[in-house]
Amino acid sequence: FWDSRMSCGYFQHRGVTFPGLLYSPRGLEAAREFPVEDDDVFNVTYQKSGTVWMLEILSLILRDGDPSCAARCPAGSGGPWLETLPGPRILSSHLPAPLFPRAFFNSKAKVIYTVRDPKDVLVSLFPLLADFPALQRPGSLPEFMEKFLRGRRLPFGSWFQHVRGWLQLRGRDNFFWISYEELQQDLRGSVERLCSFLGRPLSPAALDAVVANASFVTMSHNPMSNFSLSPTFILDRRRGPFLRKGISGDWRNHLSPEQSRRFDRVYREQMAGLGVSFPWDP
Ligand code: A3P
Repeated sequence: FWDSRMSCGYFQHRGVTFPGLLYSPRGLEAAREFPVEDDDVFNVTYQKSGTVWMLEILSLILRDGDPSCAARCPAGSGGPWLETLPGPRILSSHLPAPLFPRAFFNSKAKVIYTVRDPKDVLVSLFPLLADFPALQRPGSLPEFMEKFLRGRRLPFGSWFQHVRGWLQLRGRDNFFWISYEELQQDLRGSVERLCSFLGRPLSPAALDAVVANASFVTMSHNPMSNFSLSPTFILDRRRGPFLRKGISGDWRNHLSPEQSRRFDRVYREQMAGLGVSFPWDP
C-alpha cells in the first residue's frame, strides 16, 4: 500500500492540490464514483482539524463505547476490506465537497464535518509538513502562512474554500458539523449530539467509555491512534508526536499580533456572506 518510491511532489486535480504519494488523478476520479451505501458514515475534515479524534469518537459510538478495537487496529491503517465489513462503515476524507463521491448527494449516508480554528490548523500543519517526507517542505512560518492564506500549493486546497464548500450542506438531514473547539469544551455533550445525529443512543456507561477513550491523554498513549507505528518515510515522528498538543489557541505561541491581524483581514474577506459564526471569529 505504501510505496516509498512514489513521488514526493504535488499535483493539481480540478483546481485542488494533492500530495502525489497518497493520491492520483485516477484515484480521485474513482472516488467521485464511489458506491455510497445509505448507512455509510463519513468523517470529513480539512487536514489537522481533528480527523483522527473524530474517527476514534465515531468508532467508539458505533461500538457502544467498547474500546477493544481502538486497542487493536491502527487508526488510518488503510481501512478494512469493504466486502467483509458489515455496515455502518466509517470512512474518512479530506476531499473538498465538489470532489466528494457524487452518490453521497442523493443518498441517506451521513457526513460529519469537523472544523477547527484555521490559525490552529496552520500551526498544527506547519511542523507536520516538515515531518512528512511525502509532503513538500513548508518554508518559514511567515512564508507558510501566506501560502495558507492564498490556499495554493497546499494539500487539499484552500481551508476557506473547503469550509465554505462543506458548510453549504448545512440544513440537510444527513449533514452534521461541529468544531474542534466544541469537542474540547464539552466532549460529553458533543458525543450526545453525535449519537442523536447517528440515531445511536448510548447508555450512560457507554457514553462514559466513549468520553474516556477519546480523551487526548488516552489517545496519545495508544500506539494505535498516535501513529507511532507509521514507517518513518511516511511520518518521521522522531521530530515530534502526531498528537502534538491537542489544545485550542496554540497559534498565540507562534503568530505575532501583526501576523494575526493580517490573518483576520483575509479571513473576513474569504468568509464574508457565509452566514455561520465560529468560536474563533475575529
Ligand atoms: P495539534 O497538532 O494542535 O496537537 P488531524 O487528525 O486532522 O490530523 O488533526 C490532528 C490534531 O488533532 C492535532 O492537533 C492532534 O493533537 C489533535 N487531536 C487528536 N486527538 C485529539 C484528542 N483526543 N483531543 C484533542 N486533540 C486531539
